[in-house]
Amino acid sequence: MEIRALREEDDRSRFHSGDPDLDRFFQRFAGQNQFKHYLGVTYVAVSEGAMLGFATVAPGHIEIDGLPASARKKLPRYPLPVLRLARLAVDQTARGRGLGRQLLRFVFRLAFLMASDYGCVGVVVDAKPDAMDFYRQYGFASIDVVKGQSDARPAPIPMFLDLRSIREALGARGG
Ligand SMILES: CC(C)(COP(=O)(O)OP(=O)(O)OC[C@H]1O[C@@H](n2cnc3c(N)ncnc32)[C@H](O)[C@@H]1OP(=O)(O)O)[C@@H](O)C(=O)NCCC(=O)NCCS
Repeated sequence: MEIRALREEDDRSRFHSGDPDLDRFFQRFAGQNQFKHYLGVTYVAVSEGAMLGFATVAPGHIEIDGLPASARKKLPRYPLPVLRLARLAVDQTARGRGLGRQLLRFVFRLAFLMASDYGCVGVVVDAKPDAMDFYRQYGFASIDVVKGQSDARPAPIPMFLDLRSIREALGARGG
């Protein structure tokens, strides 16, 4: 299994997470968003040509007032750069084998690279209510306000994990 950026020739038609919105996004929009509009990048977990999971990220920003008090300390009041985990899904046939965790750790490494190359204070995820506990186990906490929320229903809950926690999760060298 490898995790790599989506390629235009990848066959996404057989991916089924069980969530129609996520499947439609992956099959119809992930490619054009990435290759035509440059809105974000989708990373796929691939095994023998089969797409087993994906994570879509884009740079974003967050207002400091939305952050938990512990993360707000000493930060300036202008918008802060974050990596936004816009979508994450694992194929139904591959659930419960640690793939979601591996994709999330991959996103943590992207945030770590973004921090060292461009600046990034943490990861924001628009969590589906059923997935909040998945993110909580890594330390993500709900936040109040993120501009540009999607109109998906049920409404996603923005959650945040600061870079320090990400660095700890990855180990000192970011691996
Ligand atoms: C959420 C999702 C990505 C998890 O993927 P997965 O590959 O099955 O998860 P993993 O096997 O890596 O699980 C890692 C840990 O999280 C736990 N976990 C998985 N899904 C969970 C959930 N929805 N709520 C709480 N815990 C969850 C697992 O039990 C496991 O715990 P353990 O380490 O103690 O055994 C997957 O269930 C999915 O695609 N769901 C539908 C789409 C969705 O909700 N995406 C997130 C939207 S923001």
